[in-house]
Amino acid sequence: MLDSPKSIVVTGGNGMLAWDLAKVFRDRFPHVPLVAPDRRALDITDETSIRSFLSEHRPTWVLNSAAYTSVDGAETERAVAEAVNAKGPFLLTQACKELGARLIHFSTDQVFDGSGTRAREEEDTPAPCNAYAETKREGEVAVLGEPSNLVLRVQWLYGERKDRFSPLRQKTVFSPFSDQFGAPAWTRKVAETVAALCENSISGLFHFSYDDYASWEEVFRFVCREWNLSVELNPKATHTMALPANRPLFSVLSNRKLVKALGVNGMGSWKEPLRQFLQKISPPTHSTLPELHA
Ligand SMILES: NC(=O)c1ccc[n+]([C@@H]2O[C@H](COP(=O)([O-])OP(=O)(O)OC[C@H]3O[C@@H](n4cnc5c(N)ncnc54)[C@H](OP(=O)(O)O)[C@@H]3O)[C@@H](O)[C@H]2O)c1
Repeated sequence: MLDSPKSIVVTGGNGMLAWDLAKVFRDRFPHVPLVAPDRRALDITDETSIRSFLSEHRPTWVLNSAAYTSVDGAETERAVAEAVNAKGPFLLTQACKELGARLIHFSTDQVFDGSGTRAREEEDTPAPCNAYAETKREGEVAVLGEPSNLVLRVQWLYGERKDRFSPLRQKTVFSPFSDQFGAPAWTRKVAETVAALCENSISGLFHFSYDDYASWEEVFRFVCREWNLSVELNPKATHTMALPANRPLFSVLSNRKLVKALGVNGMGSWKEPLRQFLQKISPPTHSTLPELHA
């Protein structure tokens, strides 16, 4: 039998993933109260804030999409990242346990160092490649300490809330990474998968990914083709960018466990959801539509 919540809280309500989580869960459970507080209404680093908010709303599911997400910023703001990505999930785990609520949390592919060329499984030992990833790993461990909780590792998110592709339209030259491999994921599709996992009372650690992968260069070439843009792509290797934080290079996550849990044949290609997203935010103009033949 499918699980059904009585009330839902989505933390970090202004965030990219939060926006689609709120939309998808409202559509899926139209009669269930759902609140998506922003950081001012619910600060996940503040135990008092968590307790007063959760005891007022009495959620059965708490979807924690609040996070410190500046990968480079975490190198110098380690304490802030630690508070939001490690202490926050720990406090939420405790509060949810006391309330009998399930905590659904999100982590990152960057808990692996991206060495080698093998897709990482959930059982593989993490080796965080930067300060952000170290704090995210601490958060995972705290949340997974409670067996009924769910942690989904995601990567390369895009969504309507913070559209990372539209700025390409204003550029004449753009330099994507040529040597980072993974798969972009639409927050809408991630949210739909989370809803399916929640409804089926699935707990534990899972990777969200597709059946194929690409470099950022290939992803941006795909976007340019779909939108018919004539931007000159000038791909660069990661080390030439001199970024503050290390990036994993072969950052492909295996979806074997997720596919089995969902009872599906596979997750498909990253291309189809991206094509749908690009058409949704900017439908093809008349001149780029294919000719229709009677
Ligand atoms: N984006 C990606 O490509 C990516 C990749 C891998 C994993 N993830 C993970 O996916 C999850 C969602 O990421 P996202 O891209 O949706 O992030 P996002 O757009 O940066 O949203 C995070 C939200 O958390 C809020 N927040 C920060 N500190 C908070 C606090 N102390 N209390 C409450 N809220 C707080 C932020 O508030 P403000 O708006 O006020 O700053 C922001 O609205 C995160 O766990 C992230 O680590 C993301």
